[in-house]
Amino acid sequence: MQHVSVMPVETLEALQLQSGFSVVDATAGMGGHSRLLSTAVGPSGHVYACDTDPESLRMAEANCAGSPGPISFLHTPFSRLRMTLNANNVGLVDALMADFGTSMMHFQTGERGFSLMHDGPLDMRLDRTGNSPTAADLVNSLSEKELADLIYTTGERRSRAIARALVRARPVVTMKQFASTILAAVPRTGKLHPATLACLSLRIATNHEYLEIDALISQLSSLVRPGGRVAFITFHSGEDLIAKTGSRRLAKEGIAKLINKHVLVPTPEEVRRNPASRSAKMRVLEML
Ligand SMILES: C[S@@+](CC[C@H](N)C(=O)[O-])C[C@H]1O[C@@H](n2cnc3c(N)ncnc32)[C@H](O)[C@@H]1O
Repeated sequence: MQHVSVMPVETLEALQLQSGFSVVDATAGMGGHSRLLSTAVGPSGHVYACDTDPESLRMAEANCAGSPGPISFLHTPFSRLRMTLNANNVGLVDALMADFGTSMMHFQTGERGFSLMHDGPLDMRLDRTGNSPTAADLVNSLSEKELADLIYTTGERRSRAIARALVRARPVVTMKQFASTILAAVPRTGKLHPATLACLSLRIATNHEYLEIDALISQLSSLVRPGGRVAFITFHSGEDLIAKTGSRRLAKEGIAKLINKHVLVPTPEEVRRNPASRSAKMRVLEML
């Protein structure tokens, strides 16, 4: 399965890696960036490839076979990153990157319940090892108002009508049922499936994505040494707002400085080659 890593050149430039550096890839995904980082830090360096999804980590490990240097694959959400690194005797590292969101594997595996294009259980959990609530659990247990508020978090203006339809259709257990219930309740306008934003809202809530990004930013001074670089890649305005607010907070507190005044974006050539990169935005920090 292919996941084309976004902004590879910009990532390496931003992190200013040198041979022998230790670097955390907080979102190993399918291992594309981890492999790239390993090439940059070489056999004397070390990459800590982390992900909250153990299934992604297994693929990352297979895809990184034969990388030039050592890579440790660690199962951890952002919120437990410092604890996980402690447990593996890893101190401050020289650089860290995070490429937020989900990978192609999540969208192409119907059984994970992330994609409107593939039927499967309405799951959407990045980490299926625990008993945390699935997307279906949220749809079937929240009050209609709570569900409407949740759906509104991505700016879906028809959130009330969508929540009402979903509550009437309960129990909603598959992606097909979720998508067809919304399609029947609100008119299709433009190319986007009318359930697209509701689907994103549900994914963000199921995985506490904004809280997790904020937890990562709050730990940065205990993860990366002074002078070390950090790069974040976001894919939608909600994610970018959390990354922007958190980065500015660190700058205001004198914990990090912002390297790029404006976000970096992929080149037109990259967007042509990999349309999935079109919404990517990169923010870069240097720890003080
Ligand atoms: C866009 S993909 C990364 C792709 C990767 N850079 C590559 O080149 O293959 C994002 C990854 O972040 C992981 N992720 C999302 N939220 C996370 C969290 N809170 N903690 C750790 N990993 C997370 C997802 O499981 C997914 O594998």
